[in-house]
Amino acid sequence: APADRPGGAGSGFVVVANRLPVDLERLPDGTKRWKRSPGGLVTALEPVLRNNNGAWVGWAGVPDVDVDPIIEDGLELYPVPLTAEEVAAYYEGFSNGTLWPLYHDVIVRPEYHRDWWTAYVDVNRRFAEYTAKVAAEGATVWVQDYQLQLVPKMLRMLRPDLTIGFFLHIPFPPVELFMQLPWRTEIVEGLLGADLIGFHLPGGAQNFLYLARRLAGQPTSRGTVGVRSKLGVVQVGFRTVRVGAFPISIASAELDELSRRRSVRERAAQIRRELGNPKHILLGVDRLDYTKGIDIRLAALQELLHEGRLDPAETVMVQLATPSRERVESYIQMRGDIERQVGRINGEFSRVGYPFVHYLHRPIPRDELVAFFVAADVMLVTPLRDGMNLVAKEYVASHSGLNGALVLSEFTGAAAELRQAYLCNPHDLDSVENAIMSAIEDDPETKRRRMRSLRRQVLAHDVDRWARSFLDALAQDRVAGSALLTD
Ligand code: ADP
Ligand code: F6P
Repeated sequence: APADRPGGAGSGFVVVANRLPVDLERLPDGTKRWKRSPGGLVTALEPVLRNNNGAWVGWAGVPDVDVDPIIEDGLELYPVPLTAEEVAAYYEGFSNGTLWPLYHDVIVRPEYHRDWWTAYVDVNRRFAEYTAKVAAEGATVWVQDYQLQLVPKMLRMLRPDLTIGFFLHIPFPPVELFMQLPWRTEIVEGLLGADLIGFHLPGGAQNFLYLARRLAGQPTSRGTVGVRSKLGVVQVGFRTVRVGAFPISIASAELDELSRRRSVRERAAQIRRELGNPKHILLGVDRLDYTKGIDIRLAALQELLHEGRLDPAETVMVQLATPSRERVESYIQMRGDIERQVGRINGEFSRVGYPFVHYLHRPIPRDELVAFFVAADVMLVTPLRDGMNLVAKEYVASHSGLNGALVLSEFTGAAAELRQAYLCNPHDLDSVENAIMSAIEDDPETKRRRMRSLRRQVLAHDVDRWARSFLDALAQDRVAGSALLTD
């Protein structure tokens, strides 16, 4: 465990997340090195923390190692150790076998196991205890995501002096689904330990307010919650907990700049040549997750090819898929299904030297990824459910030339903001196919108009604005709280 705060020092701003922004990797020769962690949470929070000189409490991504805190570039990383059994029960089990599918509309059936829950409680307590030691007197602590929903209450009991925020990076489910959870009241009460609870969308905030009344029996406000405005309120004894919608975003200006670089442009042109100079490059970029609808976009393409609406001599699909949660059964099965689907499409529609689907199952370095965004004529983002989806925003930020088209599922948080995308219902294959064909065939002026409007949204609402709006609201809680104390 980290040493106690020396002489009352410690960090004034602490982020707590399941993962650190870097993962420790054990190489076959026994040596270790750090690599960037997967997922949107890290993409979003890393720049925020660098700008705020904060500390980050999280797991190093491998079991059974005790790593010393790392302090570099003004960033302090405090690794929380997990045993292999805890990774199996808390991370793969309760977080990704229970909560993830439950919160994503039960696309896969959530499993409820008492021993997974016990591990979730134990690991949440460990995160709370670590954070209690790292945070300075009166610090602001920002707890992240579904893996740590009990931390706000546990931390408040250990350190009542702290200001505690919580942000959920995934959807908050409809009440009827949340009510399945055997430990539903404990989760709601865990979250109510925070001063401010943030969701991507007003709908999630409203679902939570209803559950706070029904399960925790606390009085709440009843008006509609706005986007970054009109926060809801839960009265927990003498404390006021506020609940709001803060849609997350990306470092838009940096990505815009990166995508304009000559090296990236040249690499994009080279990618097009390497793919055989097709007329249309279609692109998918995802963690390999069943929520992302990779199977749906492949099924839509297969049908379009069969019907002759898409010409395989002119079109190429590139699917970049980062490995994810590879020991969870539903992920193992989905990987097999998708790889079979890719094989089948290629068997039917490829020519020697020119596969129709190019499928890479590995993380792609940042610059290379942006070159793919730049090269792609159509971006396919087709999740069955996604809290936000940063990939959609990254594609838009990479298209300063106003070319390109974004096909976007209505079931992503991003669809609430990116209204000029080619929106589709992923449950309706015709809708996906028609969106893909419009994105390919619309005249360039229509596409430019749409992209211009999308870019206005993404560049104005970047991750900095997201963090500022959340942290400003949290700071107001602190002012309101101290006013209450001095009254
Ligand atoms: P999630 O948080 O569910 O993974 P998001 O779309 O919000 O989904 O964020 C994913 C992040 O991971 C984005 O920043 C994206 O660029 C990155 N990413 C996704 N797939 C890959 C890949 N194959 N290689 C490298 N980065 C990837
Ligand atoms: O926001 C979604 C999220 O689940 C993060 O909490 C998580 O860190 C990321 O995606 C990647 O998933 P994992 O940490 O399980 O590899």
